[in-house]
Amino acid sequence: MKTVTLTAARELRFTSNVLSNSYCEPQGLKPSQKGKISSQRSKGCATQNRVFQQNARERGAGLGVAVPLALAAVLVWTVLLPPPAGAETGAGAWLRYAALDAKTAKNYENLPGQIVLLGDSAVLKSAHDELVRGVTQMLGRTLRVGARPFTADAIVLGKLADVHALAPELSLPRELKPDGYWLKSAGIGGHDCLVVAATSDRGVLYGVFALLSKIARGESIAALDEVQEPYAPIRWVNQWDNLNGRIERGYGGPSIFFAGDWIREDLTRAGQYARLLASVGINGCAINNVNASPRMLDDSVLAQVSRIADAFRPWGVQLSISIDLSTPKAEGGLDTFDPLDPRVAEWWRKKADEIYRLIPDFGGFVVKADSEGRLGPSAYGRTHADAAKVLARALKPHGGIVFYRAFVYNHHLDWRNLKNDRAKAAYENFHPLDGAFDDNAIIQIKNGPIDFQVREPASPLFAGLSRTNEAIELQITQEYTGQQRHLCFLVPMWKEVLDFDLHVDDSAAPVKDLVSGRFFHRPLGGFVGVANVGMDANWLGSSLAMANLYGFGRLAWDPNLSAEKIVDEWTRLTFGNDPLVVQTITRMQLDSWHVYESYTGPLGAGTLTNILGNHYDPGPESSEENGWGQWHRADHLGIGMDRTMATGTGFIGQYPPAVQKLYESLANCPDELLLFFHHVPYTYVLHSGKTVIQHIYDSHYEGAERAAEFVTQWKTLKGHVDDQRYQDILARFEYQAEQAVVWRDAICGWIYRLSGIPDAKGRLGREQS
Ligand code: GCU
Repeated sequence: MKTVTLTAARELRFTSNVLSNSYCEPQGLKPSQKGKISSQRSKGCATQNRVFQQNARERGAGLGVAVPLALAAVLVWTVLLPPPAGAETGAGAWLRYAALDAKTAKNYENLPGQIVLLGDSAVLKSAHDELVRGVTQMLGRTLRVGARPFTADAIVLGKLADVHALAPELSLPRELKPDGYWLKSAGIGGHDCLVVAATSDRGVLYGVFALLSKIARGESIAALDEVQEPYAPIRWVNQWDNLNGRIERGYGGPSIFFAGDWIREDLTRAGQYARLLASVGINGCAINNVNASPRMLDDSVLAQVSRIADAFRPWGVQLSISIDLSTPKAEGGLDTFDPLDPRVAEWWRKKADEIYRLIPDFGGFVVKADSEGRLGPSAYGRTHADAAKVLARALKPHGGIVFYRAFVYNHHLDWRNLKNDRAKAAYENFHPLDGAFDDNAIIQIKNGPIDFQVREPASPLFAGLSRTNEAIELQITQEYTGQQRHLCFLVPMWKEVLDFDLHVDDSAAPVKDLVSGRFFHRPLGGFVGVANVGMDANWLGSSLAMANLYGFGRLAWDPNLSAEKIVDEWTRLTFGNDPLVVQTITRMQLDSWHVYESYTGPLGAGTLTNILGNHYDPGPESSEENGWGQWHRADHLGIGMDRTMATGTGFIGQYPPAVQKLYESLANCPDELLLFFHHVPYTYVLHSGKTVIQHIYDSHYEGAERAAEFVTQWKTLKGHVDDQRYQDILARFEYQAEQAVVWRDAICGWIYRLSGIPDAKGRLGREQS
């Protein structure tokens, strides 16, 4: 009786949490698809919700009996059992500042008891309050406001110049980059002090977060002397939120900014989000969908958007807006949006002036033009450089930036023409314009040439813009990688791209050095992540998926950090320092991308998903015979896109010669990208010694097995992780294991029916053949 009662009580909480996380409105439809696919989409959502509901049903009693049982459970629980391991919603993410155990806390007993704050800006005040909050929660000590001159040991927070005025005897680090910081244990006026200093207030805030992170992870702060500087000035996130409150490709609930075609009254979550972003060094956020509504620039909307900027400001996060290039005509009263028309230039200039009156630290505009049905400069025979220029010039006097997206392609390509190739579009559109963009414009380039697939090569455009600022666009929201319902830690994938050497002019040119501006000595550059957090308590719909947001920020700060180091930090901050928890979760996270790839789209064929619908369920046939260009060209003889220069689309020719050599020949091309670059028969033998078809079978079966192992691995953490997150995550892994089998059977059945070649290990079921 006791067990049944407790189970029912837990399930009450668990069921509502899981269901509230499965926000699944049809959204983000490409305009031309709306009618065609809505039924498909809602079917996908219904399936997902059904699985969650079923899981919940199988575990617990119905609500009718559960309520009285739950009340009884509270009594039994309080009287007879030790307290539960605690319950957490995941809202605190990596900033939960859980109390440290007595032994670990002892390492910090010499932490000064006072804070001396040198300045009074809103950002410095955040730094001060964050330090007080973190130390109170983790160490149970209340830091006091320190007196000057010093009467006791103190933590000193301030800009380098102010620290120098206070303690001229300290030898400060040589020039620090903007946003960089210095953590230093030092004697000042006979007292043991800990200095957090930076060139800007924002740097001081970053230093405080770094200090708190060390304490949370049990790292020594005894003799600190550490300088940290960001790799690049641009470390931004984009949200794809619509004014109606829905988020395109968002899997963590509705928008934290908008609801009911207006800006939310209560913007508490916006401030909390900015705090999370600042804690990993992210300094900007574009708040609305790249498929932007012209209404975003209405004066009445802007006046309200300024409230979001107010919520961001104490955390040093600059607000930006995605714009629709046709706004001067669509909403602005002009009969044109031609970027070369002086009336249009004047309109943008006035609009920028108005925005900066409301939001003095406004970041700039993000632009998606001439892409997926969006209007653009081609309407007037103008170039992307013409369009970027009219915006850049309006923003320039205020210090604003234009992020012009390179995601421009024709989605009506003739699929019958084997020379057509969507992968070539970004380079073809932007390489000829190199040097034609102003210094406050940045070309924002997706990591790969297609669209956030589970594996793609680096975009050749990174090497193709030597006289233009660039930034890499990575996708934190897992659109094509399991939509936060499957575990897929993307940092290892991003690192492969950032470390990939594009060999420009025969010199080493890793992507991270091209996008940061280091290689071509560009004034601006960096990293943009499409985040799409929502109103779900745990932000992204899954606590484990938050490792991707954390990891993006850490890589944008320092792309040389290893995936192991990043996930170790994140796990300790999110779940504590219990060695079993740290080892288990870091291993699962590090394995997860390969596992997901193996049961969805191995060998570079793309995520073999329903590209016309939800981008989630298996749907390999949807890629073919349409103009979207996500082709894998599978037929009864073979599979893969021939992108060679010799016989294919010639895409490989967009890379510098050393990279061409790597991909052009079958002998050199790595197995994991084979089908991205080559069309081969199913019987083609890989470097691994397996045939392509057998690799596809094996990979799907192994992937499904490994997804099932996630359930077993997670179960070892029962009692080591608070019950609420334990149960929520367990449900996700059980669901993922089921879905991996669905994927395995769908893809293996499809490829068998196409090729007629059976699995050598005889595993195909009757339903697949
Ligand atoms: C993908 C995604 C769209 C998005 C587009 C973009 O195609 O599915 O929802 O608008 O990328 O990045 O612009």
